[in-house]
Parts: sequence; structure tokens; C-alpha cells
Amino acid sequence: MSLAARTARISVSPTMKVAADAMKLKAQGVDVVDFGAGEPDFPTPPHVSAAAHRAIDANFTKYTANSGTDDLKRAIVERHRADNGVEYSTSEVIVTAGGKQALFNSVLALFGAGDEVITHMPGWPTLVEQIKLADATPVIVRTHAENGFRLTADLLLGAVTSRTRGMIINSPSNPTGALMSEEEMADIAKEAAKRGIWVLLDLCYDRLVYDPVPHNIIGVLSRHNRDRAVLCGSASKAYAMTGWRCGWAVAPAALVNACNAIQSHSTSNVCSISQRAAEAALRGPQDCVTQMLDEYRRRRDRLYDWLSADSRIRMRKPEGAFYMFPDVSEFLSPDGIRTSADLATALLSDARVALTPGEAFDAPGFLRISYATSMKELERGSQRILEFLATRSSVRAASL
Ligand SMILES: Cc1ncc(COP(=O)(O)O)c(C=O)c1O
Repeated sequence: MSLAARTARISVSPTMKVAADAMKLKAQGVDVVDFGAGEPDFPTPPHVSAAAHRAIDANFTKYTANSGTDDLKRAIVERHRADNGVEYSTSEVIVTAGGKQALFNSVLALFGAGDEVITHMPGWPTLVEQIKLADATPVIVRTHAENGFRLTADLLLGAVTSRTRGMIINSPSNPTGALMSEEEMADIAKEAAKRGIWVLLDLCYDRLVYDPVPHNIIGVLSRHNRDRAVLCGSASKAYAMTGWRCGWAVAPAALVNACNAIQSHSTSNVCSISQRAAEAALRGPQDCVTQMLDEYRRRRDRLYDWLSADSRIRMRKPEGAFYMFPDVSEFLSPDGIRTSADLATALLSDARVALTPGEAFDAPGFLRISYATSMKELERGSQRILEFLATRSSVRAASL
């Protein structure tokens, strides 16, 4: 079958394999502990769901403006003012089907053949695939475990060439949980402004930062490079609303208009009911976000303590998002389990724990453990991982 050339340039997420295998085992009744999820395990807050019920009852079930309702756009503008101290108008906002579509619209609207777009790895693979779908060239910079996967201005600016048109930055990062500092952001934004480079922020986990460190990269970027700043946000992770599919891009009006045109010929408006729900989330009490964050922090700390029982698992506590990202290269060897992908497969089949191999994030030698699951499951899963790794070490010792 002859498919369009662009399909040959992209690949389905490698996270899918372990997830599909885990699902198969679960369907057979096998007791699998699932650390694969990239989404909150919490229910959507009740006041958000209630707003959706009200929308249905009021028959708010028709097309809305393609770029989203004015009410939701105002709520987005107000959250940015309150949380980040930035001033935007509703003509600079488009409501999208999750942060993913905010990024995709923007990438399609901004970049094309011959353009280089810089992003970072280990990271979320979609960012790279979207650049390729736009026929542009991804340029990857690598962050490293030794310095906490810190993404610096030096790294990003060091990759700039005369063909660079944009950068896409994800902070907090999936899968590393690392934050970009405001100082680094300022250096990047100033240089990008000088060179006419667009900076897209993937802010999917923006509300999930554990310590009270300054992380207003939105404010810093829009202060120094507002004309080429694209702020891609989402209700998905902060408000436990992954299935509602609601996100947004805040950007210069000309770009928002171009995104609006693209969206008008692809998906049209985000589900009207979801928009009412997202509005309730953004305008309503924000303590639900804090409560979930507090619970993620407790889980992170316990998981860290449990896994620390085996000193060969090298890890640090993530600063944001909800993933532990240990280096497991100590357990890999040419005559045993060779790769972290093989280790993830073995953990699933032998220890019945599903997690995502680092290969999915261009980081072989690592595993991603999502702690968006209950403390009980985290304890059971940690136990299983430790027991499995203990047997591995004796196998390795025996083979010496
Ligand atoms: C880093 C990152 N950005 C963006 C997204 C997109 O999420 P959504 O489209 O649900 O807002 C995800 C989802 O997992 C993610 O991990």
C-alpha cells in the first residue's frame, strides 16, 4: 500500500507496546500493578463535572466558535493574569483539544520544510513527531541525569543555526520532572528575541511543581519575547481532566488566527460541554489542584524511599509532574537483560509490573514509573520491582 511520505517519517509511540501487553494480561485476569499511566488517577473535581452536567441540561450541546467560547477564553486570560502576571486579550487565545492540539496547530502554523526546530531529550516524543509532521527538521539537545536533567540556555542556544525558527521547551518535563529555571528562560528569551526565534512552551505539567521555587517561565518569556511566545497549556493534568480534551494556546493574534484556520479545517471547536467544564476548573477554587499535588508529593517521597532500598537504582526526586525516572543501567548487561526495554518487558511478564522503558523518551537505560496511582499500588509495585531486581542480581552474580 502506498501511503503518504509523511507517515514514513513518524512512528507510533513505543510506550504503546508495554501498555498493550499490560492490557492483554489484565484482560486475562492477571493481577498487574500499573505504573504506566500518563494521567491522574483522581476523579475530575465534582464542581467541574457539575458544570458539565449543567451544560448538558441547558442544551449547551451545539457548535461553539471554532476558537472556543468567549467565557472560557476570558477564564484563560484571567488565570494567566492571576498566576503569571501577564496580560493578554481573548483575541490572543485559542481553545484546543488538549495541550497536544495547541502544540500541533502552532507547529503547523509556524514551521515548514527547511526550518530547524530545537527541542530536548529525554522528553515527550510527540514534540519531535509534530515537528516532522510539519516537514521541519527536529534538532535535539540532550539533558543529563548527572545534573538533574537541567535544560540550560547554553544547551539550547548552542544548537541554534541560521535555519533555526523555533524551540519547544517542556517544563516540568515528562519524563524527567526537571524544571527550567527563570534565569535560563530569560537568557533564552532575550537571545530568541534578538534572532527572531519562536519559543513554544509545553506547560502541560505547569501546575504540578512540588517546591515553592520560582517557576514563572510564562512571565519571563512573555516579558522578553512576547512577539514570538507561544504558551501551550492544558486542563488535563492539573484538574484530572485528560479525557475531556481541553487545552489552549496563548500567543500573538496573528498566530492564533492561523491556528484557528487550521483547526477550522480539522477538528473544529472543542466539545462544548468540555469547555464549560474547563471554565469551571479555571475559575473555581484552586485548592483541588493543591490537594492532588500534595498527594503526588507524598507518593513521590514514599516511592523514592521504597526504591532506595536497592542502591543500584539511581534516581532523584522529580521537581514536577508525576514520574520517577530511575537509571537502571546497573541491571543491564550483554549476557543478561540487555536494554531497559527488555527490562520493562521482563518486569511485566515476571513481576507483573507495567512501566514505560526509557527508550520511549529517547533515554535507554532508564525506566519511567508513574506515581499517578494509589499508595497501596505503589507499595505493592515497589515490592515486586525490588524482589525481581534482587533475583536478577543473584543471576548476574552466579554467572560471574
Ligand atoms: C509533556 C506533555 N505535553 C503535552 C501533553 C498533552 O496532554 P493533553 O493533550 O492531554 O493536554 C502530554 C500528555 O501526556 C505531555 O506529557
